[in-house]
Amino acid sequence: MEAVTARAGANIALVKYWGKRDARLNLPAAGSISVTLADLETRTTVTPSPELDFDELLLDGRSAPTTRIAPVLDRFRMVSGCDLYCRVESTNSFPTGAGLASSASGFAALVVAADAAFGTGLDDARLSEQARLGSGSAARSIFGGFVEMAPGSRDDGSDAVASPLLDAADWPLEIVVAITESGSKSVSSTDGMNLTMNTSPYYRAWVESVPADLERARAAVAARDFDLLAEAGESSALKMHASALAAQPGLLYWNGATVACLHEVRRLRAAGTGVFFTVDAGPQVKAICLPAQGAQVAARLADVPGVVRVIETALGPGAGVLT
Ligand code: PMV
Repeated sequence: MEAVTARAGANIALVKYWGKRDARLNLPAAGSISVTLADLETRTTVTPSPELDFDELLLDGRSAPTTRIAPVLDRFRMVSGCDLYCRVESTNSFPTGAGLASSASGFAALVVAADAAFGTGLDDARLSEQARLGSGSAARSIFGGFVEMAPGSRDDGSDAVASPLLDAADWPLEIVVAITESGSKSVSSTDGMNLTMNTSPYYRAWVESVPADLERARAAVAARDFDLLAEAGESSALKMHASALAAQPGLLYWNGATVACLHEVRRLRAAGTGVFFTVDAGPQVKAICLPAQGAQVAARLADVPGVVRVIETALGPGAGVLT
């Protein structure tokens, strides 16, 4: 069997996923809408080999536990009828575990490479399903541009998959990531979601509010209405964090620089720049900008005290095998 390398871009949710209806299958309690990024990517090589007695993982050049990837590879072994263990080498073009969704691009690249290596030939919806089993947000990184994740209603999760809404080229928004803490160890999204689900009095209200945000964001993307997308996106992020802040103990993912960046983004928008913010389970701020406005936003966010570094990127394509 041949080694296969695949790449996948990270993605940033504009309408957030925060809470599961089934923890084992990573089935989301509500839908989400994201954008897939161009340069923040994972490249993963999967090599099935008769010489291995177990799966091996090299993550950014270092040996890493295979607890989360072995079940994914098991499913490809089962479908293909080939029981070879694999050597998996995965490299991120951005800092791992810094709140930049490396699990999303990581699992998307893994399933695409494994599908080709084992010759299973799954379609994109089934690849999305397989990626979701590794990490909920990874289901969206199979596709490029604007992507919607369906919560699905089936118990087996076969309808909880992502699908594309709009190609990156059709509305080439720009993204600026303001890193306010490098190598930070926040509460993982899975642990944060569980705590919020189990203890936050606002969790139900949050889940019930998601369909309206999805509708607004979908309409905004279809009409390329940036103001409407900004409204839906900031509201979704703030409500997600409000539900997490109300957990016991409260989940405070932000630091001072995070909040300073949120104010700076709002100042810029009030002064006419097309930009809005979102924040995931960590202290980094992601600014979504109208085409050609990223450089100006990046310069302003770089000057906010406490910002360590800014990364500018664009919307990118879906996951694929590299030839
Ligand atoms: O699927 P996970 O464990 O990467 O969770 C993602 C959670 C958020 O990033 C906070 C929101 C999202 O929709 O990506």
